[in-house]
Amino acid sequence: MFLYKSIIRKALYKYDPEQVHEFVCHFLLKISSFPFVIPILRFFFEQNNPKLERTLFGLKFKNPVGLAAGFDKNAQLIDQMDALGFGFVEIGTLTPRPQIGNDKPRLFRLESDDALINRMGFNNEGVEEAIKRLKSRKSKIIVGGNIGKNKMTDNEDATYDYMAAFKQLFDYVDYFVVNVSSPNTPGLRSLQEKEPLEFLLNDLQKINKKKVNPKPILLKIAPDLTNEQLDDIIDIIKTTKIAGVVATNTTIDRSNLKTGSAIINTIGNGGLSGQPLKQRATEVIRYLSEKSNKAFPIIGVGGIATAEDAIEKLNAGASLVQVYTGFIYEGPAIAKKICKGILANSK
Ligand code: FNR
Repeated sequence: MFLYKSIIRKALYKYDPEQVHEFVCHFLLKISSFPFVIPILRFFFEQNNPKLERTLFGLKFKNPVGLAAGFDKNAQLIDQMDALGFGFVEIGTLTPRPQIGNDKPRLFRLESDDALINRMGFNNEGVEEAIKRLKSRKSKIIVGGNIGKNKMTDNEDATYDYMAAFKQLFDYVDYFVVNVSSPNTPGLRSLQEKEPLEFLLNDLQKINKKKVNPKPILLKIAPDLTNEQLDDIIDIIKTTKIAGVVATNTTIDRSNLKTGSAIINTIGNGGLSGQPLKQRATEVIRYLSEKSNKAFPIIGVGGIATAEDAIEKLNAGASLVQVYTGFIYEGPAIAKKICKGILANSK
């Protein structure tokens, strides 16, 4: 961890964040083509212990710390993330057709806040490309398929995009996440309103229930919902009988940042993740858990960088956690570090 923060991170932070992301992913892909690399990564970064295992929606997770959606959008690094000690990987957001996303620059570091702002806009190679890679993966790690709509698809037709992605991906992922909470696709979050959301989830459940082995469908929500909207979400989960919630996506809120407002204004629109999101994400998890009387499982995500942060989410009502921004700031040992802390806490 010291090596990462004092040397590697300093060097990487001299460059544009998206270029660094691409470089690191490419590097991981290349080096892991040598047969000894994955076992070495496992040796250094895996934390295996039966006490870390969790069974949820009929799936067995080797540990409760997952990689959040957005990092491995195109399902390129599943085996590598397994070797880096993650308990599950959520690929996507995938849209039925490939799309390039918003103009660059679209990813920004707020170093004094341990945060990121992104307006990627669902840049992804589309479901078909991801399936090719899912077919060739070697590890048995649990994979979630996070699905969304193409930018060019009107909200009235959004259901067709979600249904297409769902059907195509069905045989290749273990669970699904319906993403209606990204702030970077215009109008997407209005699909979080009660009526369109109920229609969308019911349509997906109809397809799901016709399958011999239906898959768990979860809903990913924004941290910017009001308590009334969260109450609606609880109702919708009950009526549509989906498996649970991923809470939360990035926020459009910019309050209490250490980064100066001039910089924030220059960056412009996008979703904020990392440390400043932590408290709100925990509040949303606690509200959903308490108000629903723990009626459904919650995957907690938002600002997790340490074992304490993860334990806070678990204590608020999450059954599993995910990280993205913490991975960037803390480095490749983050899953192991959190797992160790969870183990120590469970004694
Ligand atoms: C994301 N996130 C995200 N979420 C999602 O459902 N689909 C996506 O495509 C993306 N893309 C994405 C890109 C980038 C650059 C970031 C930083 C984040 C949101 C992510 O999965 C997570 O919900 C939030 O980032 C909050 O967690 P962290 O980052 O604070 O651990």
